[in-house]
Amino acid sequence: MSQFLKPADGGRRDILITSALPYANGPIHIGHLVEYIQTDIFARFQKMRGHNCWYVCADDAHGTPIMLKARAEGISPEQLIARVADEHIADFADFRISFDQYHSTHSDENRHFATLIYQRNRDQGHIAKRTIAQAYDPVEQMFLPDRFIKGECPKCGAPDQYGDNCEACGASYSPSELKNPRSVISGCVPEQRESDHYFFKLDDFQAMLKEWTRGGGLQAQVANKLDEWFEAGLQEWDISRDAPYFGFEIPDHPGKFFYVWLDAPIGYMASFQHLCDSPEGQRAGLDFDRFWSAGSRAELYHFIGKDIIYFHALFWPAMLHGAGFRTPSAVFAHGFLTVDGQKMSKSRGTFIKARTYLDHLDPEYLRYYFAAKLGPGVDDIDLSLDDFQARVNADLVGKVVNIASRCAGFITKRFGGRLAAELPEPALFAEFVSASESIASAYEQRAYSRAVREIMALADRANQYIDEQAPWVVAKQQGEDAKLQAICTQGLNLFRLLIGWLRPILPGTAEAAEQFLRLSPLTWGVLAEPLLDHEIAKFQPLMTRVDAKRIAAMLEASKQDLSVAEATQIGLEESAAATTHLLKDPIAEEIDFDTFAKVDLRIARITKAAPVPGADKLLQLELDLGGETRNVFAGVSKAYDPADLAGRLTVMVANLAPRTMRFGVSEGMLLAAGPGGKELYILSPDHGAEPGMRIK
Ligand code: MSP
Ligand code: ZN
Repeated sequence: MSQFLKPADGGRRDILITSALPYANGPIHIGHLVEYIQTDIFARFQKMRGHNCWYVCADDAHGTPIMLKARAEGISPEQLIARVADEHIADFADFRISFDQYHSTHSDENRHFATLIYQRNRDQGHIAKRTIAQAYDPVEQMFLPDRFIKGECPKCGAPDQYGDNCEACGASYSPSELKNPRSVISGCVPEQRESDHYFFKLDDFQAMLKEWTRGGGLQAQVANKLDEWFEAGLQEWDISRDAPYFGFEIPDHPGKFFYVWLDAPIGYMASFQHLCDSPEGQRAGLDFDRFWSAGSRAELYHFIGKDIIYFHALFWPAMLHGAGFRTPSAVFAHGFLTVDGQKMSKSRGTFIKARTYLDHLDPEYLRYYFAAKLGPGVDDIDLSLDDFQARVNADLVGKVVNIASRCAGFITKRFGGRLAAELPEPALFAEFVSASESIASAYEQRAYSRAVREIMALADRANQYIDEQAPWVVAKQQGEDAKLQAICTQGLNLFRLLIGWLRPILPGTAEAAEQFLRLSPLTWGVLAEPLLDHEIAKFQPLMTRVDAKRIAAMLEASKQDLSVAEATQIGLEESAAATTHLLKDPIAEEIDFDTFAKVDLRIARITKAAPVPGADKLLQLELDLGGETRNVFAGVSKAYDPADLAGRLTVMVANLAPRTMRFGVSEGMLLAAGPGGKELYILSPDHGAEPGMRIK
């Protein structure tokens, strides 16, 4: 479809680009960055080509996990999403992701469009009401999403499995089939309760979706997947959730809320509307309808991970169509990130947060590495840390930046910073320029690895030219000034082309290069003209080498990002012979009495114990210190049933600095002995001890 929308005359295109909206309950990690970097390169490329291109995104702020996480931290969902939004925005800015707008699904614009799209679909008869029976937590007084119920697998009997599928045998089932089910939130046995739900009749859109699928806007692998789904039959989609829920209430059904995935993609529209209303949007004369009305000629591209294709390639175009809006020109799915060939792992330190990366390494490195690996398909991509170091050092530092550093010094020292008025080798320059369109078409097709290959081949060619001309030799020869200036001018002009082509990938390096060459921001169009008789600034090193020590430090810091409880658990599970190991556990370094006395150990009563959604080793405990209560996360859920803990006395460290964990703040530490996993033993005081007593 997108091919047809492009003006045949190569004119200025209207392009709206999105990345999937990250959930507002966790930090950005390097897996996410595959997507944001991929999209950002595309957006920057289109802007360099002079198109009317806009890149919008937002936080995906609704849903049960966000509601529960806020509750666990003792704050409102609004407070939680505001804090996470700040973190996300800072992470993206530091990775130079150039959103024109970063908004939130918890916004007025999104409420408006979610309501509108729902109402229009309802009025067209695409919404059905049905009563369904569902698991209900009588303690928490809420319906439980499948992921919040655990029990024994109905097929193989494996314990501790989620309500939708078994990690042991791979079986899929419905939560009502689980044996001995438990609510992950309260630990109690869920009941079955009935409630009214609203369904989007996806099946009404079968013909329209089949046509859209064949329109050329999907990758072959994705279109094939869709054919499988069509064959299996399109099911009605449950778009409502009962209170309590953090989201938008359905206007004509009080107590019912839109399911997070209904309003999430609508967030693309909301963010764009917000941009239209902003001073920048006003200045640019941005018009919402021009991009979103049915029959719009603008291009609309969604970059997403392969896990969320169903939402973007079926529900989303159907909802839009049903509400009289245009459908996407294309959905571009990418694969998942592995690190050194394996899934990102917390214990190996390869679950790397964006912020942890930034604390140690230059974002340009990762942007380059991902670009060098990304193609237009949905294959997973691997970050091999050795290869990462070798490749960035060889290509960027060794080839590209090296050209500038080999030529710039002479121009500054010998020619007052002035480039020659002519190129000595115009044919070589022309040969480079002639590659420009092929590189552009690689970007356009999201074949970034091909673009990088072509650019690096030309970087080799530029270095070969400098090697042959050996300006450092010419510099020592009498009366060869003009020749020296010409060689360096040629070298810097080739460098300017390379950095111009790399600019979508390396915006920070390109900006530094623009300053050093005293250029206004490079566009694709200006590259063909050489830079002559022009004064440049003093050369500053544009990039330093990747240092293996920094990578090691980043991995170490990523391990430290784990909470103490998680780390202990994982560490113990990974040491295979945990029990024998324990006996050899050496006594820790000697401390003096004053050091010991600083530790305030208290008797505490466990007044509440509940599992932590998303952290299957942790329990969330409420500890009573005789008047004061503390929220503590303890890694004991494999060893204790929450129901068995409530009411009992134990010992805690009461003056440990609070730790912010992924699930909330832990205000102290529970003491337990043992190798870990199922073998952990909580301490109990003798009869007569009372909550709050200090242990001396
Ligand atoms: N909130 C939804 C998207 C709603 S879009 C209307 C969501 N959020 S997410 O935070 O889980 O993921 C955001 C994007 O990052 C998704 O496209 C997802 O596929 C991508 N990735 C998350 N982890 C990833 C990797 N490990 N590797 C590559 N992409 C990954 O899904
Ligand atoms: Zn099973």
